[in-house]
Amino acid sequence: MSNPVLGVTDGSNTVSISAKYLTRHGLIAGSTGTGKSRTMQTIAEQLADLGVNVFVSDIKGDASGFCVAGKENKRNIHAPYEPHLIEANYWSVSNRFIPLRFSLSDAGTILISRLLSLNPTQESHLSLAFSHARKKNVPLHTFEELLDVLDVLVKTNARGFSSSSVNVIERKVVALIDSGLGELFGKPSISINDLHGLNVLNLSDSRKNMAVSIAPAFLLQMLFDNLPEKGDVEQPEYVIFFDEAHYLFKDSNKSLQDLMVTILKQIRSKGVSVFFVTQDVTDLPDEILSQLSTKIIFSQKVFTQRGNQRLKALANSFPDSELDVLERLKRMPTGVAITSTLDQKGNQTEPKEVTMFAPATTMEVVEDEILLRSSNPKLIQKYYSKKAKKAENKRKWSENQKEIPIAQEIRKETRKVENPPEKKPKKKGPSIWDGLFKFLLKLLDFILKVVGKITTFLFFKPIKKFFKYLTKKPIRIIYFLIILLLIYVIFVNWGSIQSILELLKL
Ligand SMILES: Nc1ncnc2c1ncn2[C@@H]1O[C@H](COP(=O)(O)OP(=O)(O)OP(=O)(O)O)[C@@H](O)[C@H]1O
Ligand SMILES: [Mg+2]
Repeated sequence: MSNPVLGVTDGSNTVSISAKYLTRHGLIAGSTGTGKSRTMQTIAEQLADLGVNVFVSDIKGDASGFCVAGKENKRNIHAPYEPHLIEANYWSVSNRFIPLRFSLSDAGTILISRLLSLNPTQESHLSLAFSHARKKNVPLHTFEELLDVLDVLVKTNARGFSSSSVNVIERKVVALIDSGLGELFGKPSISINDLHGLNVLNLSDSRKNMAVSIAPAFLLQMLFDNLPEKGDVEQPEYVIFFDEAHYLFKDSNKSLQDLMVTILKQIRSKGVSVFFVTQDVTDLPDEILSQLSTKIIFSQKVFTQRGNQRLKALANSFPDSELDVLERLKRMPTGVAITSTLDQKGNQTEPKEVTMFAPATTMEVVEDEILLRSSNPKLIQKYYSKKAKKAENKRKWSENQKEIPIAQEIRKETRKVENPPEKKPKKKGPSIWDGLFKFLLKLLDFILKVVGKITTFLFFKPIKKFFKYLTKKPIRIIYFLIILLLIYVIFVNWGSIQSILELLKL
């Protein structure tokens, strides 16, 4: 496997990251607007092109451009790639893109108990509830279903069950539901088999609740649980990027953080690499920072004494070199970073000042509609739930639903897009006459339907029945013809019949 490139140093020497050592995890840091997300994009798209499964946790929603080709960029004279797009699937916790959900029973008691910050006694109650649901074949996908199971156990005075512990669990569960986190749990639960290729989880709607930390943590746990042990691999199987990584740790509780650290230390042997992208490295726990071997550090704006000390510590974390890392970290322009990775022997390389390549895909924010259309329609159909649809914006979804069958075609079309979609002129909204015309058409359609139904009911159905009755016994047809003849004779020749009768009387 070739190594993903980062950019150039000294004007033309290409700098790359060793694919073999990617599983030693990485850090992309720098002040706001310095180029972190674009570099993440550049690395992610190259890995996806090399056939590595890539998962991007996109908290701001600005790392979406993979499905649209970028423009020519003079930075990329030495880049080994041309602008192109990459097939990507876009996920969200809501129904905005492909809904990403976890089933409580798939997540398991340990993860749920950490999420709820339960003590050992409460955790054992949770385990009892899970095993009760399993034995009785009761579904346990949502928090509402968990509350039902707990209720049953309390009401039936189940052995070893204390109502005070259950009360605590119930209160914590209700608080989570109130925070909007209930949406993240349910059916169908995400399967790692559906996370092949390039997948982007857009968490921009979930910044107010813990979903931003829980969804990525649960995914990491899921990969850890499901992937086989691989030992030292030549190339990673999955590379996960956590943009705005401080959110992962900001709101999450200590026990969930500890779990993340434990997973991170062990997941390397399963061929999984994790990149943390953050503005301030001190937002990440030290135990995590010490696990990150590839470092890409952009300019850091420092305003306080404490900030200065942090920057010095960061500069000192690079191996010694002729480069004045501390000085450069304060002054580098946008899109330029100090990088250090592992060499072929696994040693930390000398820090280099690298002008980063621009991504092959667009750096612009892409419209939701295009992101949804570029996603695999099979995944949309599999994970989209009708129940959730009702709770969401109906109009938006019904429009998207209509477009699902043609999504593959549009995906092909998108490949040809050279100009970013936002340049296209926006369609005008429907006028009042369009509305009136649509209403009249619907009214006409309704009237025709009603008239049709009445005619069918009064005429066609009785006639059909009668003919069925006749054809059952062919003699009935003869009787019917005789009756018709009689009627004809009686009504049409009534005058001549009368005169015959009168003659007979005489
Ligand atoms: N490698 C690059 N090539 C070309 N332009 C770049 C590059 N890196 C950054 N830029 C320019 O800088 C802008 C900001 O970059 P980016 O969004 O990556 O910043 P960021 O560090 O992620 O900021 P934030 O912390 O606010 O998310 C981009 O929109 C782009 O115009
Ligand atoms: Mg960013």
